[in-house]
Order: sequence, then structure tokens, then C-alpha cells
Amino acid sequence: MTDKLIIFDTTLRDGEQSPGASMTKDEKVRIAKALERMRVDVIEAGFPIASVGDFDAVKAVATAVKDSRVCGLSRALDADIDRAGEALKDANASRIHTFIATSPIHMQMKLRMEPDQVIENAVRAVKRARQYTDDVEFSPEDAGRSETDFLCRILEAVIDAGATTLNIPDTVGYNLPSQFGSLISTLRERIPNADKAIFSVHCHNDLGLAVANSLTAVMNGARQVECTINGLGERAGNAALEEVVMAVRTRQDMFTCDTNIDTQHILAASRLVSGVTGFVVQPNKAIVGANAFAHESGIHQDGVLKNRETYEIMRAEDVGWNTNRMVLGKHSGRNAFRSRLQELGIELDSETDLNAAFTRFKELADKKHEVFDEDIQALVTDTITTADERVKLISLKTCSETGEIPVATVTLLVDGTEIQQQMTGGGPVDATYKAIEAIVQSHTELQLYSVSNITTGTDAQGEVNVRLEKAGRIVSGQGADTDIVIASAKAYINALNKILTPVDRAHPQV
Ligand code: KIV
Ligand code: ZN
Repeated sequence: MTDKLIIFDTTLRDGEQSPGASMTKDEKVRIAKALERMRVDVIEAGFPIASVGDFDAVKAVATAVKDSRVCGLSRALDADIDRAGEALKDANASRIHTFIATSPIHMQMKLRMEPDQVIENAVRAVKRARQYTDDVEFSPEDAGRSETDFLCRILEAVIDAGATTLNIPDTVGYNLPSQFGSLISTLRERIPNADKAIFSVHCHNDLGLAVANSLTAVMNGARQVECTINGLGERAGNAALEEVVMAVRTRQDMFTCDTNIDTQHILAASRLVSGVTGFVVQPNKAIVGANAFAHESGIHQDGVLKNRETYEIMRAEDVGWNTNRMVLGKHSGRNAFRSRLQELGIELDSETDLNAAFTRFKELADKKHEVFDEDIQALVTDTITTADERVKLISLKTCSETGEIPVATVTLLVDGTEIQQQMTGGGPVDATYKAIEAIVQSHTELQLYSVSNITTGTDAQGEVNVRLEKAGRIVSGQGADTDIVIASAKAYINALNKILTPVDRAHPQV
């Protein structure tokens, strides 16, 4: 008999806690819709008390998503729980996830609370959350370094208080698989009312063990895994959803459970998250990396051609590679464009967004013979992120010639006023960035600049990723264009628009 393994995606909450990965409300809704389409069971949409923006984003996701349960995070504090309850009130199915730290070091140094006080707070939080929803998850933060006896006490108490899911986080990614697996089976055996709740795990990847720890926990009875697309998350990230799902699906001989995930949408979700956050997927990343199904060596290619199972344990099409790859061109009409968007799982909010994306598509198709799925994904990201920005690119002219100093002339619309600046630089990108900075005077530091091709060929769009830092705040920006200097300007302006929007945002674990 196969049990259900619940997939709880926290890309929009823990994933967003990666420095530079913050997302707008619209971006969160787009990602949530992609997760819903993939049949993710629970979507953790954010930490509503963190800021007004976070509250609005959780509320927007709760309204937009119908088939997945939408969850909001809260510390074990009344105000947090009330805010989460309020943000989730329009959800079809909601969950409040409340947490408090339980390891000796966190209780003494961070909370400055005695263990009994921690239990009292946890119980009160769960009871309060139950006033908003009958689906309440409790996490003893830093469970991976907590004392087992204390975990048993607090978990028994929160089940009695009404918690329906007990999530065991390895917050600092310290555990080894055998140790983490034993912790799950010990808790299940020793907690007298353990059968009244579902055990979940939430593993961080500091030692590269997040997926291994999650899978061992599943083998020891956990029936929910918390994970993120592309393994995004604090520091080294969380367990990667695509790896957990495909490991369980591929090795059904080893697991007594399976997920509901429609794996064919995995690649599209991975690309969407990477495009929105600017966190590029490494080529050798399992499942979603460009080389994950590529066979370089002659011996492998020969084997795969004779019988693919010689070297392939999964089918590339099952996770969304090469499926229905239709190329659009300059003669493709609005309907073809619209239906391709639907097939890619891209839902635009309004006809205005669709028109803007279609105009961009036509411009691109004029420059480029064939427009691929990756191009469409990039142009939609570009179009949507230009919605309410303070700085807009009006025009850019660069001049570079052997033996001459490159010059860039940039015209921007800043808060409605058109301003032009000309600067020289080491190269056309450098000159462009200096001209933009001379206009905007953001005083930010450029921490990362990278350019990659979206598809192959010299007519491919270049995709530029930048990361800017100001007073400890890090943002990323993306831009795509067949001209990489223009793509560079778009990426820089995209990041500037984020950094120019002040945010006063609380971090849940600090
Ligand atoms: O890593 C962690 O402990 C968390 C909790 C809030 C569940 O993200
Ligand atoms: Zn976490």
C-alpha cells in the first residue's frame, strides 16, 4: 500500500530569505500558480507580519490559488498569528505554521527563555492558530540540535493543543542522514499521541545533505517534506523539491509512499523561479540543470541510442524537457502566443499584461528568427517586472571602437522626469552603468554581474543578472535582450527599482 507524501513548498518563504531573492507580489502569485499546476499540496506563501508587502503577497496568493493549501508563517506570538490568520482568510484551504526554537543554544542565547516557558508559548500559539484554521503546523526550530527528551515533551503538548503537523527542522543543516532518520523514528515511537499528527521535515543544505536527510526521514515515517524549487533558501538552501520528488518517484522499490506531483511541470517551475530571482541553475544540477540529461561521451551516447535505460534512470520528458517544444516566429499571431503561454503555465493578470508581452514578443521575433520557450519565459519576466517602476529606460546609445574609449548615452525616466547622461568607461557596459548611476545616484555596490545566453546561436537573447548591495540589503535584477548592452542596462535598472523601494521587513528567525 502506498501512503501519500505531502509536498510543502517554501520557495516563497524560506526561498525568499536567500539574500537577493526577494520577490514582488505579482512574482509570488506567478510562482504560486506554477506550484499549484504542479499539484504541490501546501504552498508556504510568506511571513505575513514581516511587512505590509509580505502580508499583501500572502493574501494575494491565498486568493489566487484554489487547489493547493496556502500557509503563512508566524512566530509563537499572538500578533504574528493574528496577522497570518487575517492574510489567509480568503484561502480555499489554509494553514498556519507557527514555530519557536527548542535547542539549548537558541533557548538560552536567542529567546532567553526557560524550557517550560518555551512549551507554554508553543501551546498558546497553537491554540490561538486553531481559532483561525483547523490545520496548524508547529516547528521546534533547530530541532536537529535539540534534546530528544525536550522535543518529546513539547511535541506531545502541541499535539494536545491542536497541532496537526509536526515539522522537524534541521535549521542549520547539521545532521547526518542516519542520525536524522533515527530522530524521526524515535519521536514517532516515544511521543504517546504521535499518531494524531503528521510528521514533516525541513532540512537545510549547509553540508549538502538536505535531500539525503529528507529522504531518510521519509524512510523513517515522515509524511511531509518541506522543500523549495531549485533548492533555494537561507544560506546553502533547502532540500530541492525536484530532487526529493524524483528520488521518491524513481525509487518506488525503496519507498512506501509517493507524492501527487505532476512532474512534467518541474522544469517550467525551475526556470520561472530562476528567472524571477536571478539565481542561475548550475548546468550539472540534478533534474533541472542543462546537462542533467545530456550525454557527452561517445560510449554513453551509443548505449542510450541502443537502449536509453543503459545510462538513464529517468525520462527527460517526465520532468518537462523537450515536451511539445514549439517554436514561434514573426508570423505567429496573438492566439498562438497566448496558447503557448498557457502551455508553459504562464498566467498573465490582465489583457494589458498580455498585450505588453505580445508586443515584446513581436519585437523579439523581428530580431530573432525563432522564438523558443526560454525566450518567452524571459520576455514575460521582463514585461511584468516593469509594472510599477520609478526608473525606466527610454533610450541607450553606445559607441565602442578599437583604439577608442567607449561612450554611452543613456536617457532615463526617473519619477516622471526625463534625464540624459553621457559617460565613458572601460567597455560599453561599464560606460552604461556609470551613466545610469550618474543619473540615479543610488550609491549601491555592484556585487555580481553575469551574462548568459538564453538559447543557442549568435542571435540568441543574452540574459544578464546583477546583484546590488546597499546598507546590507541585497537585491538582484534581470534583463534579457538580443543586444547584451541593452540587457545589461535593463538588469541594472530592474535591480535599482527594487533597491529604491524602501522595505522595513522583519526576518522570522532573527
Ligand atoms: O529552518 C527553519 O527552522 C525554518 C523554520 C521557520 C521552520 O525555516
Ligand atoms: Zn528554514
